[in-house]
Amino acid sequence: MTEPVHNLFDRTADTYDRARRRLIPCFDELYRAAVDALPFEHDDAIEVLDLGAGTGLLSAFVAFSFPRARITMVDAAQQMLVRARERFALGGDRFRFEVADYSVGRITSRYHAILSALSLNHLPDEKKRMLFEQSYAGLSHGGIFVNADRVLGETPELEARLHKSWMRRTRELGVGERDLRQALERMEFDSAATVSDQLEWLRACGFREIGLQYRNLIFAVYSGMK
Ligand SMILES: C[S@@+](CC[C@H](N)C(=O)[O-])C[C@H]1O[C@@H](n2cnc3c(N)ncnc32)[C@H](O)[C@@H]1O
Repeated sequence: MTEPVHNLFDRTADTYDRARRRLIPCFDELYRAAVDALPFEHDDAIEVLDLGAGTGLLSAFVAFSFPRARITMVDAAQQMLVRARERFALGGDRFRFEVADYSVGRITSRYHAILSALSLNHLPDEKKRMLFEQSYAGLSHGGIFVNADRVLGETPELEARLHKSWMRRTRELGVGERDLRQALERMEFDSAATVSDQLEWLRACGFREIGLQYRNLIFAVYSGMK
């Protein structure tokens, strides 16, 4: 039986953060684009859910831009959330942590924003669609779903070119061979989908104002509102 992907993240949690800016050459722009998609005011006390929060990198961007946001971070890899707890240790009860598989069960609370970074690509397409439905149900009216993710090129040829360019960029930025190997190992568990398919799936769930907010090589940010 295939090992669950969160086991791989548990094993590499210690070294996860150090290589992110090299493995994701557009790191800051990607995460900023996800936060810039949020249609809220700086001081709004929004309830936010971060799916596959890992060590809390996306949540840190949200917390900086929305200092009164209450953020729930969900991840199946306990060791990743240990790092997230450390990151937000001084943040008090604004930050909550849940070790759970977000692809099973329902989202029981109501959120103004449901976000995810580089995690939903691990789900098979059918489960992505189910998660989009769950997210729609878990949003309050006027709420927003935002996904910053590894995406597929729209054709196999385009995908091959974008992937090759991404590998070249990571090497130009000096990624360590061990970090690259670990990332490629984790990417074997990817089940990335094209942006056009994912926007279509959002539309089918009832989301409105659906759009692509950012695209760079194999990464994209897209969103939809309830
Ligand atoms: C590449 S990391 C991204 C972490 C963080 N969002 C970031 O941007 O750095 C992917 C995370 O998704 C988590 N994950 C993958 N599938 C999951 C699932 N079904 N339920 C909960 N967490 C999951 C993994 O454990 C891992 O921590």
